Amino acid sequence: MNERRIDQIRAVYYQQFGGEPASFAVAPGRINLIGEHTDYSEGFVLPVAIDRDVMILFSPRPDDRVLIYSIDFDDRYQTQLTKLERQDHTWAKYVQGVAWALSENGYPLKGWQGVISGNIPIGAGLSSSAALQIAIGKTFCLASNVSIDPTTLALIAQKAEIAWVGVNVGIMDQLISAAGKADCAVLLDCKTLDYEYIPIPEAASFVVLDTLTRRELTNSEYNTRHEEIQKVTAILGLHSLREASASHLARCQERISTKLMKRAKHVINENNRVIQFVDAMHSKDLILMGSLINESHASLRDDYEVSSDALNLIVDLANNQPGCFGARMMGAGFGGCALALLGKSEEADFIHAVSVAYREEMGVEPNAFIVKSAHGARAQTL
Ligand code: GLA
Repeated sequence: MNERRIDQIRAVYYQQFGGEPASFAVAPGRINLIGEHTDYSEGFVLPVAIDRDVMILFSPRPDDRVLIYSIDFDDRYQTQLTKLERQDHTWAKYVQGVAWALSENGYPLKGWQGVISGNIPIGAGLSSSAALQIAIGKTFCLASNVSIDPTTLALIAQKAEIAWVGVNVGIMDQLISAAGKADCAVLLDCKTLDYEYIPIPEAASFVVLDTLTRRELTNSEYNTRHEEIQKVTAILGLHSLREASASHLARCQERISTKLMKRAKHVINENNRVIQFVDAMHSKDLILMGSLINESHASLRDDYEVSSDALNLIVDLANNQPGCFGARMMGAGFGGCALALLGKSEEADFIHAVSVAYREEMGVEPNAFIVKSAHGARAQTL
């Protein structure tokens, strides 16, 4: 537990509400080792919860009011649980959405007041919004004396994002934030929602390379990809693209446009790569892990078409450095972060070299940092 950070948030809580917070909730962001844009076709993903999170210090209230101050946005929000209204509010829509989805699922909610603070770069592909949702969910659970298992909580947060916020997301980000485990990646089967912890080889280190580019169109392009996947799945006569094989796709080639062929090809190949990657992790084969990461990037760039010039540049610069096993764009895409796989102790030189080279090309230094694995969300009294 990060005492210094808790003390800082506690001081803000005192300024905002007077008195001491009773409890805290914390939910991590994530990296995804491989398995990108596969979750909403019931495929496989392999995320890791990281040491960047959203933290809430709060106290339950005797009424149904929710009062929140966000340190990062220097912004206050309040609502009554019986009078939830959809508002186009940057961060509070996630609070409203989770409260709405929990109530929809039959959980009786009580009010609380709290201070939120996060250290996950926002909109960068590290799941800052899923971490916020899961932290809010954990806060409601403790304040309302309700217990919800990680998978159910993830499904509730996903429902909030789809029905309240309006982005047709898969389950990966919410699930890893709720169920992550230190030193492990989570192999999640998005069809059954079964998951397995896969130990991260000790020699492996992961560096996030934030291009600092953010694309407004991410949400609309994301929803478009989702629709394209539904179309090609329907043409193939399947329930989900998870059931498709390369030979099935080839047999239906004449009825499928070139664009939809590429989308389907990415998903089928990416699912296979996840399974190969897990084998490579078990045999601690960083070279194979790196080359699968590189294949994933090429597929996201050329077949799924969700990368960007800045992401392609930083991935190339990363791969030019000695000690880098592979790199790829990560998350929804169109901007944000890439992920690089390195050997331990190679990180400092790597970060320096990529930062200098990226600044030369783009005129701005990327935000590059090592990420460590972390546990999933929790809430407890202070
Ligand atoms: C976003 C979504 C996830 C997943 C990734 C792409 O992070 O929230 O559900 O689809 O994009 O892999």
